[in-house]
Amino acid sequence: MSNTVIDLKNVRHSYNLGTPIAREVLSSVNIQISRGESVGIIGVPGSGKTTLAMLMAGLEKPTSGSLKTPGLGVGKVGLVFQFPEHQIFGKTVFDDITYPLREVLDLPSEEIETIYNDACKKVDLNADLVREIKPLEMSGGERRRVAIAGILVMNPEVLIFDEPTAGLDQDGQDIILDEIGRLSTEGKTIIIISHDMGNLLYNTKRFILIEEGMVADDGPVREVLQKLSEREDKLSMLPFITELMVKLNEKGLNVRRDIFDPEEAFSEIMKALKV
Ligand SMILES: Nc1ncnc2c1ncn2[C@@H]1O[C@H](COP(=O)(O)OP(=O)(O)OP(=O)(O)O)[C@@H](O)[C@H]1O
Ligand SMILES: [Mg+2]
Repeated sequence: MSNTVIDLKNVRHSYNLGTPIAREVLSSVNIQISRGESVGIIGVPGSGKTTLAMLMAGLEKPTSGSLKTPGLGVGKVGLVFQFPEHQIFGKTVFDDITYPLREVLDLPSEEIETIYNDACKKVDLNADLVREIKPLEMSGGERRRVAIAGILVMNPEVLIFDEPTAGLDQDGQDIILDEIGRLSTEGKTIIIISHDMGNLLYNTKRFILIEEGMVADDGPVREVLQKLSEREDKLSMLPFITELMVKLNEKGLNVRRDIFDPEEAFSEIMKALKV
Protein backbone atom coordinates (compact mmCIF):
# COMPACT_ATOMS: atom_id res chain seq x y z
CA MET A 1 0.00 0.00 0.00
CA SER A 2 1.27 3.41 -0.89
CA ASN A 3 2.16 5.67 2.00
CA THR A 4 1.16 8.83 0.17
CA VAL A 5 -1.23 11.07 2.11
CA ILE A 6 -1.22 14.09 -0.21
CA ASP A 7 -1.06 13.61 -3.94
CA LEU A 8 -1.20 16.47 -6.44
CA LYS A 9 -1.02 15.64 -10.13
CA ASN A 10 -0.89 18.36 -12.72
CA VAL A 11 -2.69 20.79 -10.44
CA ARG A 12 -3.44 24.26 -11.79
CA HIS A 13 -5.17 27.06 -9.99
CA SER A 14 -6.49 30.39 -11.20
CA TYR A 15 -8.22 33.12 -9.26
CA ASN A 16 -11.09 35.15 -10.72
CA LEU A 17 -11.61 32.70 -13.55
CA GLY A 18 -13.98 33.97 -16.22
CA THR A 19 -13.26 37.62 -15.42
CA PRO A 20 -10.83 40.02 -17.09
CA ILE A 21 -8.53 39.79 -14.05
CA ALA A 22 -8.23 35.96 -14.18
CA ARG A 23 -4.72 34.81 -13.37
CA GLU A 24 -3.13 31.41 -13.10
CA VAL A 25 -1.12 31.26 -9.88
CA LEU A 26 -0.29 27.54 -9.82
CA SER A 27 0.73 25.64 -12.97
CA SER A 28 1.22 21.89 -13.40
CA VAL A 29 2.08 21.20 -9.79
CA ASN A 30 3.07 17.62 -8.98
CA ILE A 31 3.72 16.87 -5.32
CA GLN A 32 3.49 13.65 -3.32
CA ILE A 33 3.82 13.71 0.45
CA SER A 34 4.13 10.56 2.54
CA ARG A 35 2.74 9.82 5.97
CA GLY A 36 5.02 11.08 8.75
CA GLU A 37 7.17 13.28 6.50
CA SER A 38 8.19 16.79 7.50
CA VAL A 39 8.40 19.04 4.47
CA GLY A 40 9.29 22.70 4.05
CA ILE A 41 7.68 24.69 1.26
CA ILE A 42 9.79 27.70 0.36
CA GLY A 43 9.49 30.48 -2.17
CA VAL A 44 9.48 34.24 -2.44
CA PRO A 45 6.34 36.23 -1.54
CA GLY A 46 3.63 35.84 -4.15
CA SER A 47 4.98 32.56 -5.54
CA GLY A 48 1.81 30.64 -4.65
CA LYS A 49 2.61 28.96 -1.31
CA THR A 50 -0.58 29.94 0.52
CA THR A 51 -2.69 28.97 -2.48
CA LEU A 52 -1.04 25.56 -2.41
CA ALA A 53 -1.78 25.24 1.32
CA MET A 54 -5.45 26.13 0.79
CA LEU A 55 -5.71 23.47 -1.92
CA MET A 56 -4.01 20.80 0.21
CA ALA A 57 -6.34 21.58 3.10
CA GLY A 58 -9.38 21.35 0.80
CA LEU A 59 -10.32 25.01 1.34
CA GLU A 60 -9.98 25.77 -2.39
CA LYS A 61 -10.63 23.44 -5.31
CA PRO A 62 -8.00 23.22 -8.05
CA THR A 63 -9.07 24.69 -11.38
CA SER A 64 -7.77 21.51 -13.02
CA GLY A 65 -5.69 18.44 -12.25
CA SER A 66 -6.12 15.92 -9.47
CA LEU A 67 -5.67 16.41 -5.74
CA LYS A 68 -6.13 13.39 -3.51
CA THR A 69 -5.60 12.67 0.17
CA PRO A 70 -5.54 8.86 0.12
CA GLY A 71 -6.33 7.17 3.38
CA LEU A 72 -7.15 10.41 5.21
CA GLY A 73 -10.60 11.04 6.64
CA VAL A 74 -12.50 14.30 6.20
CA GLY A 75 -10.91 17.11 8.20
CA LYS A 76 -7.68 15.23 8.71
CA VAL A 77 -5.61 17.95 7.03
CA GLY A 78 -5.38 20.92 9.39
CA LEU A 79 -4.16 24.31 8.19
CA VAL A 80 -2.85 26.95 10.57
CA PHE A 81 -3.41 30.16 8.61
CA GLN A 82 -0.72 32.68 7.75
CA PHE A 83 -2.76 35.26 9.68
CA PRO A 84 -4.20 33.62 12.84
CA GLU A 85 -6.79 36.44 13.04
CA HIS A 86 -8.39 34.84 9.97
CA GLN A 87 -9.22 31.67 11.84
CA ILE A 88 -9.94 32.85 15.36
CA PHE A 89 -13.63 33.57 15.86
CA GLY A 90 -14.47 32.63 19.44
CA LYS A 91 -15.13 35.33 22.04
CA THR A 92 -12.92 33.53 24.56
CA VAL A 93 -10.00 31.17 24.17
CA PHE A 94 -12.14 28.26 25.40
CA ASP A 95 -14.96 29.08 22.97
CA ASP A 96 -12.54 29.36 20.11
CA ILE A 97 -10.49 26.22 20.70
CA THR A 98 -13.50 24.01 21.42
CA TYR A 99 -15.79 25.39 18.68
CA PRO A 100 -15.66 22.35 16.34
CA LEU A 101 -16.03 19.95 19.28
CA ARG A 102 -19.23 21.66 20.36
CA GLU A 103 -20.73 22.78 17.08
CA VAL A 104 -19.56 20.10 14.65
CA LEU A 105 -18.93 16.96 16.70
CA ASP A 106 -21.38 17.76 19.51
CA LEU A 107 -19.23 15.96 22.11
CA PRO A 108 -20.18 15.64 25.79
CA SER A 109 -18.77 18.42 27.96
CA GLU A 110 -16.37 16.21 29.98
CA GLU A 111 -14.75 15.03 26.77
CA ILE A 112 -14.52 18.62 25.53
CA GLU A 113 -12.76 19.61 28.78
CA THR A 114 -10.20 16.83 28.38
CA ILE A 115 -9.47 17.68 24.75
CA TYR A 116 -9.27 21.42 25.59
CA ASN A 117 -6.77 20.83 28.41
CA ASP A 118 -4.72 18.54 26.25
CA ALA A 119 -4.57 20.95 23.30
CA CYS A 120 -3.55 23.86 25.57
CA LYS A 121 -0.80 21.77 27.10
CA LYS A 122 0.55 20.87 23.68
CA VAL A 123 0.96 24.53 22.73
CA ASP A 124 2.24 25.64 26.13
CA LEU A 125 -0.83 27.63 27.15
CA ASN A 126 -2.12 27.48 30.72
CA ALA A 127 -5.63 26.12 30.09
CA ASP A 128 -7.22 27.65 33.20
CA LEU A 129 -5.50 31.03 32.97
CA VAL A 130 -6.34 31.69 29.33
CA ARG A 131 -9.82 30.12 29.33
CA GLU A 132 -11.87 33.34 29.52
CA ILE A 133 -9.41 35.64 27.77
CA LYS A 134 -10.41 37.25 24.47
CA PRO A 135 -8.04 35.81 21.81
CA LEU A 136 -7.80 39.10 19.93
CA GLU A 137 -6.40 40.76 23.07
CA MET A 138 -3.52 38.29 23.28
CA SER A 139 0.01 38.76 21.94
CA GLY A 140 0.81 37.59 18.42
CA GLY A 141 2.59 34.50 19.70
CA GLU A 142 -0.19 33.50 22.10
CA ARG A 143 -2.77 34.05 19.39
CA ARG A 144 -0.89 31.76 17.06
CA ARG A 145 -0.80 29.12 19.80
CA VAL A 146 -4.57 29.45 20.22
CA ALA A 147 -4.95 28.98 16.45
CA ILE A 148 -2.77 25.85 16.56
CA ALA A 149 -4.69 24.44 19.55
CA GLY A 150 -7.93 25.05 17.64
CA ILE A 151 -6.59 22.84 14.85
CA LEU A 152 -5.14 20.18 17.17
CA VAL A 153 -8.53 19.45 18.80
CA MET A 154 -9.62 17.87 15.51
CA ASN A 155 -6.65 15.52 15.74
CA PRO A 156 -5.48 16.06 12.15
CA GLU A 157 -3.00 13.61 10.64
CA VAL A 158 -1.47 16.25 8.40
CA LEU A 159 -0.68 19.71 9.74
CA ILE A 160 0.14 22.62 7.46
CA PHE A 161 1.67 25.71 9.04
CA ASP A 162 1.61 28.78 6.80
CA GLU A 163 4.40 31.16 7.86
CA PRO A 164 4.12 30.06 11.51
CA THR A 165 6.83 32.39 12.79
CA ALA A 166 5.89 35.56 10.89
CA GLY A 167 5.78 38.61 13.12
CA LEU A 168 7.10 36.85 16.23
CA ASP A 169 10.24 37.68 18.19
CA GLN A 170 12.95 35.05 18.63
CA ASP A 171 11.41 33.55 21.79
CA GLY A 172 7.98 33.37 20.18
CA GLN A 173 9.47 31.73 17.09
CA ASP A 174 11.36 29.17 19.18
CA ILE A 175 8.22 28.17 21.11
CA ILE A 176 6.25 27.57 17.91
CA LEU A 177 9.11 25.74 16.19
CA ASP A 178 9.63 23.48 19.25
CA GLU A 179 5.93 22.70 19.26
CA ILE A 180 5.98 21.81 15.55
CA GLY A 181 9.05 19.63 16.17
CA ARG A 182 7.20 17.74 18.91
CA LEU A 183 4.18 17.14 16.67
CA SER A 184 6.52 15.75 14.07
CA THR A 185 8.12 13.31 16.51
CA GLU A 186 4.62 12.19 17.50
CA GLY A 187 4.26 10.94 13.95
CA LYS A 188 2.17 13.73 12.40
CA THR A 189 2.83 14.67 8.80
CA ILE A 190 4.09 18.24 8.90
CA ILE A 191 4.23 20.83 6.14
CA ILE A 192 5.73 24.20 7.00
CA ILE A 193 5.55 27.10 4.61
CA SER A 194 8.00 29.96 4.89
CA HIS A 195 9.84 32.49 2.80
CA ASP A 196 12.49 32.44 5.54
CA MET A 197 14.03 29.03 5.17
CA GLY A 198 16.28 29.48 8.20
CA ASN A 199 13.27 28.49 10.30
CA LEU A 200 12.73 25.23 8.50
CA LEU A 201 16.22 23.78 8.54
CA TYR A 202 15.97 21.99 11.84
CA ASN A 203 12.36 20.90 11.51
CA THR A 204 12.15 19.53 7.98
CA LYS A 205 14.11 17.07 5.89
CA ARG A 206 12.74 17.89 2.47
CA PHE A 207 12.29 21.23 0.71
CA ILE A 208 9.90 22.03 -2.09
CA LEU A 209 10.81 25.28 -3.83
CA ILE A 210 7.91 27.11 -5.47
CA GLU A 211 8.72 29.66 -8.14
CA GLU A 212 6.01 31.55 -9.99
CA GLY A 213 3.43 28.89 -9.25
CA MET A 214 5.60 25.94 -10.24
CA VAL A 215 7.68 23.38 -8.37
CA ALA A 216 11.21 24.56 -9.17
CA ASP A 217 12.93 22.03 -6.93
CA ASP A 218 11.98 19.19 -4.59
CA GLY A 219 14.47 17.12 -2.60
CA PRO A 220 16.54 16.71 0.56
CA VAL A 221 17.16 20.03 2.34
CA ARG A 222 20.89 20.05 1.67
CA GLU A 223 20.51 19.35 -2.03
CA VAL A 224 17.97 22.13 -2.50
CA LEU A 225 20.15 24.47 -0.45
CA GLN A 226 23.25 23.55 -2.49
CA LYS A 227 21.46 24.30 -5.78
CA LEU A 228 20.06 27.58 -4.47
CA SER A 229 23.53 28.61 -3.32
CA GLU A 230 24.70 28.37 -6.94
CA ARG A 231 22.04 30.85 -8.06
CA GLU A 232 22.98 34.50 -7.87
CA ASP A 233 19.31 35.59 -7.88
CA LYS A 234 18.44 33.39 -4.89
CA LEU A 235 21.20 34.31 -2.43
CA SER A 236 18.85 36.51 -0.41
CA MET A 237 16.67 33.46 0.28
CA LEU A 238 19.49 31.55 1.93
CA PRO A 239 20.03 31.33 5.69
CA PHE A 240 22.71 33.86 6.62
CA ILE A 241 25.29 31.17 7.50
CA THR A 242 24.86 29.64 4.03
CA GLU A 243 25.16 33.07 2.43
CA LEU A 244 28.38 33.61 4.38
CA MET A 245 29.76 30.24 3.18
CA VAL A 246 28.89 31.15 -0.43
CA LYS A 247 30.69 34.50 -0.10
CA LEU A 248 33.78 32.87 1.45
CA ASN A 249 33.75 30.23 -1.28
CA GLU A 250 33.53 32.94 -3.94
CA LYS A 251 36.51 34.70 -2.34
CA GLY A 252 38.51 31.53 -2.91
CA LEU A 253 38.24 29.76 0.42
CA ASN A 254 37.73 26.05 -0.13
CA VAL A 255 34.53 25.60 1.91
CA ARG A 256 31.26 23.80 1.18
CA ARG A 257 28.30 26.00 0.31
CA ASP A 258 25.46 23.81 1.67
CA ILE A 259 26.07 24.53 5.36
CA PHE A 260 23.53 26.24 7.62
CA ASP A 261 24.64 25.14 11.06
CA PRO A 262 27.00 27.58 12.90
CA GLU A 263 29.13 24.82 14.43
CA GLU A 264 29.49 23.04 11.13
CA ALA A 265 30.39 26.35 9.49
CA PHE A 266 33.03 26.95 12.14
CA SER A 267 34.76 23.60 11.63
CA GLU A 268 34.53 23.87 7.84
CA ILE A 269 36.16 27.31 7.88
CA MET A 270 38.85 26.19 10.36
CA LYS A 271 39.62 23.21 8.14
CA ALA A 272 39.92 25.44 5.06
CA LEU A 273 42.20 27.81 6.97
CA LYS A 274 44.23 24.80 8.16
CA VAL A 275 44.28 26.10 11.76
N1 LIG B 1 -8.06 35.33 -3.19
C1 LIG B 1 -7.28 35.76 -4.19
N2 LIG B 1 -7.78 36.38 -5.27
C2 LIG B 1 -6.99 36.77 -6.28
N3 LIG B 1 -5.66 36.63 -6.32
C3 LIG B 1 -5.08 36.03 -5.25
C4 LIG B 1 -5.87 35.57 -4.14
N4 LIG B 1 -5.02 35.00 -3.24
C5 LIG B 1 -3.79 35.12 -3.77
N5 LIG B 1 -3.82 35.73 -4.98
C6 LIG B 1 -2.66 36.00 -5.86
O1 LIG B 1 -2.04 34.74 -6.13
C7 LIG B 1 -0.61 34.86 -6.11
C8 LIG B 1 -0.05 33.87 -5.11
O2 LIG B 1 -0.49 34.25 -3.80
P1 LIG B 1 -0.17 33.40 -2.52
O3 LIG B 1 -0.83 34.07 -1.38
O4 LIG B 1 -0.52 31.98 -2.78
O5 LIG B 1 1.42 33.55 -2.45
P2 LIG B 1 2.44 33.28 -1.25
O6 LIG B 1 3.61 32.57 -1.86
O7 LIG B 1 1.75 32.62 -0.12
O8 LIG B 1 2.89 34.75 -0.83
P3 LIG B 1 3.38 35.31 0.62
O9 LIG B 1 4.77 34.78 0.83
O10 LIG B 1 3.35 36.79 0.44
O11 LIG B 1 2.42 34.81 1.65
C9 LIG B 1 -0.29 36.31 -5.76
O12 LIG B 1 -0.02 37.00 -6.95
C10 LIG B 1 -1.59 36.82 -5.15
O13 LIG B 1 -1.78 38.18 -5.41
MG1 LIG C 1 1.40 33.18 1.83
